[in-house]
Order: sequence, then structure tokens, then C-alpha cells
Amino acid sequence: MRAYDIIMKKRNNTELTKEEIQFLVNGYTGANKLEITQESRLVSKQAVKDEQMAAFLMATMFNGLSKDEIYHLTMAMAHSGEVLDLSPLRGVLSNIENSDQKNLGEKNYENLAPPQTVVDKHSTGGVGDKLTLLVAPIVAAAGVPVAKMSGAGLGHTGGTLDKLSSIPGFKTELNFDEFINIVNKIGLSIIGQTKDIAPADKKIYALRDTTATVDNIGLIAASIMSKKLASGADAFVLDVKVGSGAFMKSEEEAKKLAITMIEIAEQNGKKAKAILTNMDEPLGFSIGNSLEIIEVLEVLERKKEVKDIEILSLELSANMLFLAGKGDLESCRAQALESLTSKKAYKKFLAMVEAQGGSLNGGKINFGEAKNKIELHSKEEGYIQSINAEKIGTAAMVLGAGRAAKEDKIDYTAGIILNKKVGDYVSKGETLLTFHTNRGDLEEAERLSWLGIKIGTESPISNQLILGSL
Ligand code: URA
Repeated sequence: MRAYDIIMKKRNNTELTKEEIQFLVNGYTGANKLEITQESRLVSKQAVKDEQMAAFLMATMFNGLSKDEIYHLTMAMAHSGEVLDLSPLRGVLSNIENSDQKNLGEKNYENLAPPQTVVDKHSTGGVGDKLTLLVAPIVAAAGVPVAKMSGAGLGHTGGTLDKLSSIPGFKTELNFDEFINIVNKIGLSIIGQTKDIAPADKKIYALRDTTATVDNIGLIAASIMSKKLASGADAFVLDVKVGSGAFMKSEEEAKKLAITMIEIAEQNGKKAKAILTNMDEPLGFSIGNSLEIIEVLEVLERKKEVKDIEILSLELSANMLFLAGKGDLESCRAQALESLTSKKAYKKFLAMVEAQGGSLNGGKINFGEAKNKIELHSKEEGYIQSINAEKIGTAAMVLGAGRAAKEDKIDYTAGIILNKKVGDYVSKGETLLTFHTNRGDLEEAERLSWLGIKIGTESPISNQLILGSL
């Protein structure tokens, strides 16, 4: 088999076989060709080069992937590394509730209750998207264990991993036993995705990011589901974003992506639900890592009401509880709400921070602050018509809150606080938003913000937050 022939076949719009797709993925990850070097060492050789994978990806952008091709690509990437066995987690509830078993030692998993469904959540990526940080403690406090692996942000979208890393001392890299034992003790742990989870996706995604081959439904579905399947959960709630700040700009495209991902889950004997949510406007008021954690804590502590993130996180949590078998959807909605309003979710979040080494400082985490806080004032009066999530996300990135390239260093205190949301009235000279930065490109952030915020005389029709579910 030769990569050249497979690329030609895709270029000619002919369906590839499972073996051909496996050859490409394994060859690119360096797993399918062993060679003996002059020093008699056995090395594995990357049989598929960057330029060949890039050519395959571009041919895919033009000719698409069939349902079978997407499935084979997902499975080849999911099995390119470790596939986690989360069975030690499936009895966690009895351990939390039974005080005799609170201190489980490493690998002492045998006392667990009968299997239960382990549910995971995934978002296709957004701006100000701090929902995992609300959903995970809400679900855990309602009695369903959450063992979550999250990724870092790239470009204008943020990543849960970077947000958690802004908590002083918080460890996002735990070994598997530490991870399991924290979930067994407190019902919740969020860590970074290990390099052994779907390494082929990691490598291919980095190439897609530099070759304008990200926004293809088949490639996105395979990328997301390969990681989800390798992470070992039984069921998934997929938050599929639609709008200016999302990969999927239209509801129709988002629906196709959602259906594709659900089918992949079902082909693997797993359950999945997709919720289509609006990503035209950034979520909440804060964009940037520590700024978002502060907002999450204020909502969990019930010090502040932030409508959009509360509505979305409660709906996603309810769907997770539903997939975990905690009752019908209405009852799961009530359980999620109780978990938030009783502050049990807040306590759960703090317990996770403590268990993962974060410095709680008596509940007042010391995040530090950016040196410069610069306000942007409105040049006119009227109603905010739109706040373009991609433009504001990119503005936050140039202030230091995100990475333009994978190796860029993040400034955890940098970002943007919105003073206004879509539909709010603003007077001339009133603050629209505040930049927080130490070393960012203020001029570019300002240019992007003016491009992103539209003000008009009419009160706009409010954005529908939840566009549907599948
Ligand atoms: N998120 C992913 O994990 N992969 C994609 O391809 C797009 C978004």
C-alpha cells in the first residue's frame, strides 16, 4: 500500500477502505513501518509524511468523507494510543456515601458497587465557554461521578485545561490511579488529556490547524469522537456550538455534525445526546482564564446570576444526569437546579480544587490581576445588536489570554470583561468592556472589539440559547 495511491483515490472521490484509512493514520503516527538502522536498532518510521497527510486532508475538504470513512477514521485515531478502562469508577457512588470506604488506597477498587453509566461531556469549542466548570460540579453534586479529561484552547476559543491551570497550585497532570482515586473520594476530577489519548488526532489536528483543514464535519466528528471513545465513558453529552464563534456557522451544519457524532457513539454501543447551543455572543461576561474561573465561582457561590451560562449548564447537566439513569429529563432538570442553588456544586468544585493541590486560601483563591485594565467606551448610544464571539475571542487572545500557535505561552490573568451583553442599552461614553492585560497588543484588541460590537437604535430580538437537541 502507498500513501500516494490513497491520496489519488481520495482526490478522485472514490471511497477509501478501512485498511487504507488505517494505513494513513498508523503511517502518519509512525506505527506501521519498522526499520533496522545502520547501528542495528529497530526503529518505527513515519511512512506517511506531513505533506501527504496534508494532501489527504485537503482532498477530504473538497470531496468529503462517507459515513463508513468517518467511522474508520475515528476508530483508527481512537486506537492510535491508549483506550482507558474506567470500570473502577462505575461504583463510585457507594464509596462516597459509605464513610467506611472513603479512603480508598491505590488500585483498591474491589469494593465498588455494581456498574453504573459513566457520562462525559464535550463542547465543540467557544468563547467564554466555561460550561464544563459548572456542569462537572453540578453533575457530581447530584451523585453522578465525573472523571473528565479536557483540552487546551487554541486560537479564539478557550480550553478548560488552561482555565484550571490559572488556579495557583492546581495539578492538571495526574496519573491514572490518582485521577481515579480522587473521583472515588469526592466524585469529581478534571485533568488534562494525556498524550496517550488518541495521539494520531493530536498530530493530525495540529496539521489541520496550519493547513486550513479544520472546518469539515467528518474530520471534526472523527477528531472529537476518537478522543471521547479513547477516554472510556459509556455515554456522552455533546454541546454543539452554532454561530459566529463556532466552527459550525449554521444550524443545519451543526445538526449534521451532531448526527454524525451520535452515530459514531451508537456504532460503538454507547449513548449520546447532542444539544445545539448558540455561540454568536461570548458566554457570560468574562473571557480569559482566571477571569472565567472567578465568574464560575461567583455563579456557583450564588453571588452573581449570569443567565446564559446558568441556563446552558443546567440543561447540559440535566442531560448528563438523564444519560446516567437518574430519572426522566424533567426530574434531572430539577436535580441539576437543586445541586446549583443549594451550593452543593460550589462545595464540590472547592473539594476538587483542594484534592488536586490548588491553593484555596480559605475559599478566596488568589489569582492575581493583570497590571493594565483599559476600558473601551461607547462612541454612540443605543442597543447592543451583536457581540461577535470570534472577534472578541481573538481580541482576548491578542491580549495574552490564548494561543495563536500551539507553543505560545498564556497569560492567565489576561482577557476581557464585558460590561454589556446583546440587548442591553448603552449610553455614549459608557463602558462597553474592559481589557485586562500585561503584555498584549492593545491596538489590535481595540480594532477587533470595534469590529465585533454593533450598536443600533432598535432593541434586537434576543438570541435563542438552546437551538435544539438530538
Ligand atoms: N474540536 C476537536 O477536538 N476537534 C476538531 O476537529 C474540532 C474541534
